[in-house]
Amino acid sequence: MSATAPEIESVLHEERSFAPSPAFAASANFNGERLAALRAHAAADHEGFWAAQARTQLCWQQPFGQTLDDSHAPLYRWFGGGRLNASVNCLDRHLPTRAQDTAIIFERDDGEVQRWTYAALHEEVCRLGNALRLLGIGKGDRVVLYLPMGVQAVIAMQACARIGAVHSAVFGGFSAESLKDRIEDAGASVVITADAAPRGGKRVELKATVDRALSAGCGSVEHVLVFQRLDGCAMQAGRDLWWQTLVPQQATHCEPEWVESEHPLFLLYTSGSTGKPKGVQHSTAGYLLGATVTMQWVFDLQPGDVFWCTADIGWITGHSYVAYGPLANAATQVIFEGVPTWPDGERFWRMIAAHKVSIFYTAPTAIRSLMRLGDELPARHDLSSLRLLGSVGEPINPAAWLWYQRVIGGGRCPVVDTWWQTETGAIMIAPVPGAMPTKPGSCTLPLPGICAEIVDEDGHPLSKPGHGGLLVVGKPWPSMLSTIWGDDARYCSTYFGRFGKTIYVAGDGAQRDEDGYFWILGRIDDVLNVSGHRLGTAEVESALVAHPRVTEAAVVGRSHPVKGEAILAFVVVNGAREAAIAAGLAQELCQWVATQLGAIARPDEVRIVEQLPKTRSGKIMRRLLRSIGRGEAVTQDVSTLENPAIIEQLRGEPAFGA
Ligand code: PRX
Repeated sequence: MSATAPEIESVLHEERSFAPSPAFAASANFNGERLAALRAHAAADHEGFWAAQARTQLCWQQPFGQTLDDSHAPLYRWFGGGRLNASVNCLDRHLPTRAQDTAIIFERDDGEVQRWTYAALHEEVCRLGNALRLLGIGKGDRVVLYLPMGVQAVIAMQACARIGAVHSAVFGGFSAESLKDRIEDAGASVVITADAAPRGGKRVELKATVDRALSAGCGSVEHVLVFQRLDGCAMQAGRDLWWQTLVPQQATHCEPEWVESEHPLFLLYTSGSTGKPKGVQHSTAGYLLGATVTMQWVFDLQPGDVFWCTADIGWITGHSYVAYGPLANAATQVIFEGVPTWPDGERFWRMIAAHKVSIFYTAPTAIRSLMRLGDELPARHDLSSLRLLGSVGEPINPAAWLWYQRVIGGGRCPVVDTWWQTETGAIMIAPVPGAMPTKPGSCTLPLPGICAEIVDEDGHPLSKPGHGGLLVVGKPWPSMLSTIWGDDARYCSTYFGRFGKTIYVAGDGAQRDEDGYFWILGRIDDVLNVSGHRLGTAEVESALVAHPRVTEAAVVGRSHPVKGEAILAFVVVNGAREAAIAAGLAQELCQWVATQLGAIARPDEVRIVEQLPKTRSGKIMRRLLRSIGRGEAVTQDVSTLENPAIIEQLRGEPAFGA
């Protein structure tokens, strides 16, 4: 178990507890009794519980026969024999009663607002589905989405789902190189993108990045469909097509492709501790079920709510709680193109007031950055429409939780801290807010049907409060990843390699308190969490050593007051070290990583050192580097270091700090 950061230490001493207000509890979907009944059903009959949920929450073209096939565990197969379509579940099933209800309130970067009814959204999804079919896309074909945050991203995902194509969204901040790797691994035949996108008043180039990725490889790509969001871009004849030309010509009826429950709905690439990002593959039925029920359990979604999840469509949160969960529940949701601090730090609060948002879901990084701007900013806006607040992506420190609860929620809104991962598909550990108290910094208890536990290094359950261990899930659940795209062996060894084929190892450390509440301690592997974004140290290191001047690199995280974690890189360069420092190589390397991987991977600091600390067997002493990065005392045995004086240099003045 890695040493805990100071923020986490403070989390572990947190003892406050907040019961839901009587007003919230009175009208919540769940009270203690209903939740207890749900938990009892799940505990008594895990499969029967999920089967009942799947029958009542999803609409099926053909009912499933077998709830769970575990004969090839850990390659679990849910709801065998069933056929359905995710887009029918998100759109068509609401049309008889809700066609004119607002599905999406889209606010652009410049403040312009568009409203999309369920009928209008359905029409555009059908048109795009037909356009993709015209381009030769059918069941099982992969479509990469490199789109800005906006309605078109949701339409693209829904259109793929409608025709049985498998979408793979790539966050618009990723570089051409990262995009190319993902397109190639997925073997995509179409890329859907935009010319460029406005973000925080700046222009983000998208099509030019796609062009660079395609010129470097990606032989599988036949067409690029381009949504014109700004003033256009260069187009390659025969390959590139405008959305605005092709899509409006299509019919508004698009026969859905009925797919088997396990048919892949999407791939989403995410970082692990080794190698290149892996394509996490999610199924149609199980995934959709998880996204659907958690909207009701954790977000207490009810008719009349206006839901706003601020996550970008390029991350799992933007899949489950923008593209699928809200639509499957016929909700009204806000989608925002821009950033929280532009044109000023009141943007979120102004939008909550303008659109009467009742459920707001964001990341601790955003909360911390807005908290720093002071209480006066939110105080200028009427936030009384809010009734529930959510947090996701990284540990939330009690100070940020309490500010969120008091200043944004006015003390009346429960705060749901939700623990989950790209791989889990949906929220796993979180409060059911009307039915139980919350505690600042704790994601509370596993949801019904989720068998999360904490075990020691040998896999034995840790039942005593206050003992840190590994977070595992002891039974399969419907929204779990089906596999890693094209690599079942990597799936088995990454998640089920440690304690056998029934125990999913999440990669996080956690502990429980006297009430059984879970407290997440952070990653136990070489995965960083920068502003809620997952990055592998190995990825950043390989980007660094790809630079001609770098011979060796080691990357660690260090705590950061806003981002949670920031990247600190130690590099050894060829040629004279002092001259490299004087020539600004450290700064150049920060930029290099941003160009290679994307801006989110830009190191906060690169330290050019003479050598990296290594054990006798030649392994880099990462724990030592981590302690140095966090400014902690070095407690590791350094007697094996060839050159103990190096510690001073590793610790020393930054050569370049951002
Ligand atoms: O370390 C945990 C952290 O984010 C990781 C998953 O990252 P990703 O797959 O990108 O998904 C993020 C959005 C679901 C986890 O292994 N994490 C996520 N939520 C929390 C969290 N850490 C603490 N508290 C949370 N609520």
